[in-house]
Amino acid sequence: MPTPFNAALEDLRTTRVWKSIFRRGPANSNRTRSIAVFGNLFLHWLPVKVREKSLRVRAAYYLGSLSFLLFIMLVVTGVLLMFYYHPAVPNAYRDMKDLQFVVSNGVFLRNMHRLGAHLMVLLVFWHMFHVFYRGGYKPPHEFNWVIGVLLLLVTLFLSYTGYLLPWDQLAFWAVTVGTNIISAMPVIGRKVRFVALGGNIVGENALLRFYVLHVVILPLLAFLFIGVHFWRVQKDGGLTVRPTRDEDGTNKD
Ligand code: HEM
Repeated sequence: MPTPFNAALEDLRTTRVWKSIFRRGPANSNRTRSIAVFGNLFLHWLPVKVREKSLRVRAAYYLGSLSFLLFIMLVVTGVLLMFYYHPAVPNAYRDMKDLQFVVSNGVFLRNMHRLGAHLMVLLVFWHMFHVFYRGGYKPPHEFNWVIGVLLLLVTLFLSYTGYLLPWDQLAFWAVTVGTNIISAMPVIGRKVRFVALGGNIVGENALLRFYVLHVVILPLLAFLFIGVHFWRVQKDGGLTVRPTRDEDGTNKD
């Protein structure tokens, strides 16, 4: 029996305003449901049908979704940290000390960002191993695997560039060692190191470059690749599910 709410919704759907926004009537058949999905920017992301099995927790243990959740948490805490941080020498180190001793809940904020970053690297690797174990790199998912590899690189670069920002001894020497390793690359090694540091030493230029990479370029790339990654999961027919076999050995699905 239609409830008053459903009846009101049905009435709303026949109005001119509703039709001007959604350009369709009620989605009450397979055809109108498909039209609803194809005609809406947000729903367009989703498939018209999914296999029931790929919705089970065991299909992915939400490892990818949890990585995404952590990424959002890191963006939020990162933006809050930006209110207190100056990417300059010696301000950067002082700002970290201010966060520790002056700013209310500064330690909590900084640790959320730091621990979240460690956890994200762990979860992204775990997600990758789990996808690999289930054969998620095989057709038709190969392209999404490649996007995944790019996401892994972006995640690692985000961690690495963030490491320099506190401008303490650990940061300074970690980046000195890392960029010295880069310079050992044949032919282009020294040039790549020069471009990465904005000079030959880990100094003010390097701090600024790492900061811009960390807060603008890499997060934008991550958003872009995550968008394509999610869209492809849906358009490749959902998650890879291991086929169950009939007694005669043929695949059931
Ligand atoms: C920022 C990092 C990443 C995020 C946010 C992310 C997110 C996701 C999400 C939400 C899914 C749907 C299933 C789930 O919830 O686990 C998924 C699936 C998938 N991911 Fe990732 N992912 C990331 C990194 C990677 C990496 C590093 C790889 C591999 C190199 C990868 C390869 C794949 C593939 C192939 C699928 C489809 C799985 C299937 O077909 O069963 N992803 N990802």
